[in-house]
Amino acid sequence: MTLPKGFVWGAGASSYQIEGAAREDRKGPSVWDTFCQKAGTIWNNQSGDIACDHYHRYEEDVSLMKQVGLHAYRLSISWPRVLPEGTGALNPKGLAFYDKLIDKLLAAGISPYVTLFHWDYPYELYCRGGWLNRDSSDWFAEYARVVVDKLSDRVKYWITLNEPQCFIGLGHQFGFHAPGDKLEFAQVLTAAHNALLAHGKAVQTIRASSKLESRIGLAPVGIINIPATESSGDVEAARQAMFSVTDKNCWNNTWWADPVFLGRYPQDGLELFGVDVPTIEDEDMKTICQPLDFFGVNIYFGQKTRAGRDGQPELVPLPIGHPATAFGFSVSPEALYWGPRFYWERYKLPIIITENGMSNVDWVSLDGRVHDPQRIDFLHRYLLELEKACRDGVELGGYFQWSILDNFEWTQGYRERFGLVYVDYPTQKRTLKYSAYWYREVIASNGAILDKL
Ligand code: FCB
Repeated sequence: MTLPKGFVWGAGASSYQIEGAAREDRKGPSVWDTFCQKAGTIWNNQSGDIACDHYHRYEEDVSLMKQVGLHAYRLSISWPRVLPEGTGALNPKGLAFYDKLIDKLLAAGISPYVTLFHWDYPYELYCRGGWLNRDSSDWFAEYARVVVDKLSDRVKYWITLNEPQCFIGLGHQFGFHAPGDKLEFAQVLTAAHNALLAHGKAVQTIRASSKLESRIGLAPVGIINIPATESSGDVEAARQAMFSVTDKNCWNNTWWADPVFLGRYPQDGLELFGVDVPTIEDEDMKTICQPLDFFGVNIYFGQKTRAGRDGQPELVPLPIGHPATAFGFSVSPEALYWGPRFYWERYKLPIIITENGMSNVDWVSLDGRVHDPQRIDFLHRYLLELEKACRDGVELGGYFQWSILDNFEWTQGYRERFGLVYVDYPTQKRTLKYSAYWYREVIASNGAILDKL
């Protein structure tokens, strides 16, 4: 077994997906609260109003995490719970919730990894232009300051933004996610630029005000190309595909990661997007490109890629009957080898897998247990690939399974079950799935049991 000593084994969740208490204790509305109220946007018109009721049940949830043996828990803060209008007046009760949660986690020996923004944007700020407003990065820095002042005496690990490709692309270009906008591409790129500035200013804020020495990263979507074979042509084709911009949308790695880690937008993107690229002010790239401590990335699947006849990358269609999760994501464990390896080569920072997991058709069996052998097999296959990446020299800091609990899966509502813990929503009863017990063994052996079938 080759995973390093000190490798962090965790699981994650996010505020809107589990907390509930959507209108309690002066919490302000987020764009997800308002989006879910529009008929037809979410499967069966569901919402995160109650979700897993984690706001009231966090103590039980932390004890479940302890049972699983997690080293770390990746949570997110609801911005409008802390600042109901997004800026200005603080909501002490909202902040107190996170304060208590952090204390509980630490008392259980679980290290909190705090994501500042996992999509629940304050509705009041959306009404002031949201990410389209250049002030949005200052609003975010103000919010970051409030959270850091309160929690940084105990929180060391920070993630600024979760999956900017999704909240900008799905939320502002295609309108599938909150706030449900379908903007012109130039505006989408403006929103993206402001979100990147927000990341940079939040990093500056954390560095300037943190009481503990902090470790900071972000968590983009990993868009992974897996070489069809190990031939140098296919490997090069996959690498090239992973680090190029070929379409006028947000589904690429480099438009997001190159500014953050290399201090520039990728040349091919600048050429393709042309006049749609927003005005970049003098200091912007410096602000966006702050030194970071790790490359966090959410990886669920990858696409097989080969060198075409002309040597250019070409996607390989999946064979008929290729395994897929309940969500329809292809089961492609090698994504957890090639993704980390390619990111490590390009960005040269330790990799943390901030999300990986699958939704499954789970239910409580007659014996009262939740049998989920497919999730165990899925995680097993993916983790073996991660281990291989480590053997081949990729520096890895940790792995966060998504998710500790079944939860509100955005537009899919409660249809998708991603948890290690089953949640019966009407009663809020939690049941550890078999995968949770299995993951506990993985953690306890630092991955050694992965080698035994
Ligand atoms: C990611 C999101 C996370 C969850 C998983 C399944 O895109 O970051 O909140 O929905 O997918």
